[in-house]
Amino acid sequence: MKRRVIVRPLDSPLAAPALIHYHTRRAMKRRTLVGIVVALLLLGVMVAVAASILHGGLSSRAKPTRIETVIARYARHLAIPANARLTQNPVLASTEDLRDARLHFADHCAICHGNDGSGETMIGGGLYPKPPDLRLPQTQNLTDGELYWIIENGVRFTGMPAFASGGGHGGTQDSWKLVHFIRHLPHLTAAERIEMERYNPKGPNDQEEEQRGIGLGGCGGHGFRSRK
Ligand code: HEC
Repeated sequence: MKRRVIVRPLDSPLAAPALIHYHTRRAMKRRTLVGIVVALLLLGVMVAVAASILHGGLSSRAKPTRIETVIARYARHLAIPANARLTQNPVLASTEDLRDARLHFADHCAICHGNDGSGETMIGGGLYPKPPDLRLPQTQNLTDGELYWIIENGVRFTGMPAFASGGGHGGTQDSWKLVHFIRHLPHLTAAERIEMERYNPKGPNDQEEEQRGIGLGGCGGHGFRSRK
């Protein structure tokens, strides 16, 4: 920076304005420099985020990057109102309610999440982001209210639909029952899973295959059932 030194006797009437002018210009230059550095940093962050989102040519076959997952989950956390998050499950889980929820899950949710909640289905694997394994802590650590909110409202920009107004879904009670079932998923028994398979939506081809005995017991068809 070129410093222009202005020598004037201090008692000169011109000295004070000249000094003010000099300092103002210096402050302005520094501010411009800080502005440029901040703009460059912001641009860098934007390029990194864009590269992170656009990877894989926007194909749904790609897996979200770690940073995208962290940002998306945090954004979803912020989007769920605190009072919704803290709502307690009003439905007591009777054996009958649990069975209802399990068969409901087989009918409406397993197409993406799999009967066992692993998310390993053809449809699930083709989504971006993929449905997470509902048995793992990242889901199990969500509150009942949060799980309920997600089922009722869905998650925008993902394949997770809102079931609040879904014709065949039933009412809010059904969503609360599903919350109980999600808690039960880590302990799902083989017998329960086999029963669920009978309630998985099937097209005429699947039914025909089953009748001819060439069904793969939950592995074939169009991934309506868990691959496991
Ligand atoms: C068309 C596919 C699809 C269907 C059908 C579907 N889901 Fe999802 N679900 C997803 C996807 C994708 C996500 C991941 C959303 C995200 O990343 O925030 C998800 C996320 C969730 C989550 C949050 C888990 C977590 O840890 O973030 C819950 C709970 C859930 N689904 C429950 C259900 C229930 C219950 C049903 C049935 C009533 C259902 N889903 C039906 C695709 C689906």
